[in-house]
Amino acid sequence: MTVPEDVVLLRLFGPEGRRDPYPFYGELLERAPVLPVGGKRAVVMGFRESADVLLNTRLFKVPDRDYADRSWPGWQEHPSTALLYRSLLFLNPPDNQPVRRLLSRSFHPGRVTLMRPMIERQAAAHVAALVADGSSADAAYSFTALPNSVMGELLGIPHDDMEQLAGWLDMFLERNELHSPDKPLRQADDAALRLAAYVREKLLCAPAADGASLVGSLAQLGALDERDLVSNLVFVLGAGTVTTSSLLGSGLLHLARDNTLLRRLRDDDALLTSFVLETLRHDPPVQYGARVAVEDTELGGLRIPRDSLVLVCLGALGRDPRRFPNPDTFVADRFTAPAANPRDVLSFGLGTHRCAGAELALVTAEIAFRQLAQRIDTLALAGPPQRQNRMVVRKFRRLEVQLSDACPRRKEDEGGQLL
Ligand code: HEM
Repeated sequence: MTVPEDVVLLRLFGPEGRRDPYPFYGELLERAPVLPVGGKRAVVMGFRESADVLLNTRLFKVPDRDYADRSWPGWQEHPSTALLYRSLLFLNPPDNQPVRRLLSRSFHPGRVTLMRPMIERQAAAHVAALVADGSSADAAYSFTALPNSVMGELLGIPHDDMEQLAGWLDMFLERNELHSPDKPLRQADDAALRLAAYVREKLLCAPAADGASLVGSLAQLGALDERDLVSNLVFVLGAGTVTTSSLLGSGLLHLARDNTLLRRLRDDDALLTSFVLETLRHDPPVQYGARVAVEDTELGGLRIPRDSLVLVCLGALGRDPRRFPNPDTFVADRFTAPAANPRDVLSFGLGTHRCAGAELALVTAEIAFRQLAQRIDTLALAGPPQRQNRMVVRKFRRLEVQLSDACPRRKEDEGGQLL
């Protein structure tokens, strides 16, 4: 007997779907590429339909402050919503352009190449810490916290402060879940206030805030008032850490389950690039992007009334069998095949809101996994991994690995210090 569509959707948006949404995506993709989810809401699962929404910025806009004013009066009273909705992700062109251009320049491939020595150094310290913690519950954390150190260096934040900020960012992220923006979220609000205060007091007043640094360049953008500036800095900090950390965790999980693959990554750069892309396709760190239809339209056979909220499901589009053969199977070398197109990986989004830090994330992940493969022979899961109870950002709550056969210790492992 076929389970009704709304029952599958209820399960997707409930605890089972938060643990593992992929069986539900598969069931829903068999029925339709776009599905209604209550009044004036739709979820887009198909690859082609998702790309159409993300690229059509005339018809589909991000929910900006005007939309928030119309839909959720009082949203500004919630510090976490107010902080999030001032970032560039919730601005449409041309309003998003000054910050977008600056960030695109700051994380342009040429600039990221210059960051490589710093990322290599940080990755070496984190892999050394993983080796040192080899049989303890902290081993996976030692590895997946690399993006905190990278973003910390780029923004001039001391290591110990980053630990604290990471905890607040995690709580703040609850605001980015599929809640109504006027829903009270005490912990997220509290974290937002702390993050904003830190950025104001430590980053914007710090002597390092000169025109050459990212903070200094943003501060000098005439188009931003202080609240916009703080919001964008908090957003970049969160976007640059939690997501890449989730990618490192998912990759670590695959390698713990397949040590032959781990060893093959040592000296096969084409496989390494494909492995990172496949990890992103198979389990994207960010599962949804939100858009609003500005006029009545039709998408994938579904009528979408004006002002509908349209959720593009990045997790589902990577499992669309119309685009990817055997979509549910993790195939590490999928993107080395001549017929496969790396541009089909839409886990960084597409179009005018495509992730500004994609190159940094890819380079960080490649460096991290290469170093991991070069240092470690045998890696195993020390218990069943668990994801956080979240729908939008797929973070791990528990991921424990252990090294049963580490390579001989190198000098830099002695202290396992994170720089
Ligand atoms: C694996 C790591 C990452 C993933 C999967 C990821 C994913 C995404 C996605 C899906 C979007 C677009 C959302 C939408 O269209 O609604 C986005 C936007 C963004 N990301 Fe990332 N991201 C990652 C890493 C980073 C890093 C390292 C940075 C910064 C250093 C960053 C900064 C941003 C910014 C600034 C935006 C907003 C772009 C705009 O609206 O113009 N992200 N990211």
